[in-house]
Amino acid sequence: MSSDGLILWYQGLLLPRETHSLESLEFAQEFKFRDDDIMAAVYPKSGTIWMQEILPLLLNGGDLTPIQTIPNWDRVPWLEEKRLALIADTLTAPRAMVTHLPFRLMPPSFHASKAKVIYVMRNPKDILVSSYYFHQMAEFLDDPGTFDEFIEKFLDGNVMFGKWTDHVKGWRSAELGDRILFITYEEMCQDLPAALRQMSDFLGRNLSEVTIQKIAHHCTFKTMKTNRMSNFSLVPKQYMNTEKSLFLRKGVPGDWKNHFSSEQLARFTSAIRKELQSESYTLPYNL
Ligand code: A3P
Repeated sequence: MSSDGLILWYQGLLLPRETHSLESLEFAQEFKFRDDDIMAAVYPKSGTIWMQEILPLLLNGGDLTPIQTIPNWDRVPWLEEKRLALIADTLTAPRAMVTHLPFRLMPPSFHASKAKVIYVMRNPKDILVSSYYFHQMAEFLDDPGTFDEFIEKFLDGNVMFGKWTDHVKGWRSAELGDRILFITYEEMCQDLPAALRQMSDFLGRNLSEVTIQKIAHHCTFKTMKTNRMSNFSLVPKQYMNTEKSLFLRKGVPGDWKNHFSSEQLARFTSAIRKELQSESYTLPYNL
């Protein structure tokens, strides 16, 4: 299919048609948030599927049933994807969802509600590498071209859900008070039980240390790789070609060091710094 056929443009964002449609985006805009809903907001390739594993476990006191019986896309659906309209009525409270949407496109009912959000941020250099491989294996996405070309696409925002810097800026400046928790992929990798305790407290769950350790065990990269409900092995190869790359690929911070030349690094960091120069917060990355 031509790249135009693969892509849907919506409010300045490039989205894959396979999983998104104008109807699904309208459905998201009209979605009625409830006060006890939980949302993970994550730029693509920053740990979305990880949150789809973590949230049901935190919300159900470590009960493994949801993660062992329901595919990730139905147990914690994407707000903006086609699938939500089909399964929204099956979600039980407290409902957990994920979104890649920038803050500016969150629906009116979200703003009117008290729904909580966990925003997960990842080093953009690792996002770029992860995305580069994902574009190769996801047959419903455009070919990424060379690594050099993909860097330019990423910096221009010609990738799924637009510029990373816009996503971060929008969510960082969202005035949501104690409705939002910011956490990084790297913190989760470094000490998952600590990250889980933080999320559990934020969500008002009073989980014992035994439960936290149990959840951490089921959410390691190694365990998730073997969970057929989470490793995308249920998706036919014509959509996700696992011979090219696995979805759960490396699962570590710092793989960018194996991919960027010094010139590419300089080009990337200076462009990102320029985009973020007027922001008052300091990112936890050497950019
Ligand atoms: P890599 O390609 O660097 O391995 P998303 O779900 O937002 O698309 O993000 C996918 C990235 O998160 C992939 O990164 C994937 O391996 C990583 N990931 C998913 N679950 C993980 C886990 N339990 N531990 C560490 N990384 C994980």
